[in-house]
Amino acid sequence: MPQLLITDVAPRDGLQNQPTDLPTADKAWLVQALADCGLPRIEATSFVSPQAVPRMADAPALMAAVAPLAASHLCVLTPNLKGLARAAQAGAREVCVVLSATETMNRRNIRMGLDEAEATCREVLAQARDMGLRSRAYVAVAFACPYEGPTPPEVTLRLARRMAEGGADEVVIADTIGAAHPGEVQALARIAVEELGAQRVGIHLHDTRGLGLANAWAAMQAGVRRFDSSAGGVGGCPFAPGAAGNLATEDLVWLAQASGYETGVDLPALMRVIDEFGRRLGQPLGGRSHAWLRRHLGLAQSVNADVSETANERVNETRSAK
Ligand code: COA
Ligand code: ZN
Repeated sequence: MPQLLITDVAPRDGLQNQPTDLPTADKAWLVQALADCGLPRIEATSFVSPQAVPRMADAPALMAAVAPLAASHLCVLTPNLKGLARAAQAGAREVCVVLSATETMNRRNIRMGLDEAEATCREVLAQARDMGLRSRAYVAVAFACPYEGPTPPEVTLRLARRMAEGGADEVVIADTIGAAHPGEVQALARIAVEELGAQRVGIHLHDTRGLGLANAWAAMQAGVRRFDSSAGGVGGCPFAPGAAGNLATEDLVWLAQASGYETGVDLPALMRVIDEFGRRLGQPLGGRSHAWLRRHLGLAQSVNADVSETANERVNETRSAK
């Protein structure tokens, strides 16, 4: 059976922009619980400026809490050399750089122009390699940018090649705002897989316009075997207006199972983790297949349904108070 390697990015991409600041102990629980369900890789946190992303300010404490998983399961986002040094100090063994395909998105996200961002990514990749760390390089806004519109595929491919030349073990084509459609995903992914090899290409999808799964399928057809998704579909980027949740991990695992791909993920266990995650976050979570999967797997009434009712009550109270 062909294998898919899923990286669950809920603890980083999912939590970086939430209204609730989840305590470090709950984040550590989430990371461990995702590993226990069979997720082979988890993007645990980011070593970024706490002014830029306050939700990730506890990165060193979180890494200390999940230290036994660092070598086998975790990657962390490190946008610059300071982030790399902090991550290495905290025990990270795999780091991710982020290069956006447009000038404006780089400036908004990491306060560098495209050339400086590329040079910084290459420096981080080179130093990471010298330190014996594995690396992933995101090419963000790979299909469309919230500031500059559609991204020409040749621009994304050029940057993907540069990141591969710079030593990234994996280049991750990221549809940061969930604006891609299956035809363009398939076309771009096919070239990336041909040029870099399936072992070095990943895809990171958001489900903003309801095409997350269709895009995942298109990428699979093009030979992509490495996917990012987030448990319960939690997610969104603070610097990319309009970016909604990530492709939900349970949707992706279900698609994989239904289509004859192996992921190693225990789906009923993952669904229970998502319930508890939603409860701790105080938010209903769940991808498109969530309600059906619950029934199909014979799981008890969703805790998320209670959260959802509570949230509705709150909305009604606010409305009647006005
Ligand atoms: N971790 C912690 N602090 C950092 C840091 C890092 N990786 N990089 C810089 N800083 C600190 C500096 O030490 C400095 O602190 P000081 O004011 O106390 O001296 C301050 O941040 C400004 O440093 P500077 O190098 O000028 O950074 P900047 O203000 O130009 O911001 C980034 C650049 C990359 C640090 C910032 O934009 C960032 O963290 N972006 C992350 C965005 C993100 O996570 N996006 C979502 C994921 S794609
Ligand atoms: Zn994302």
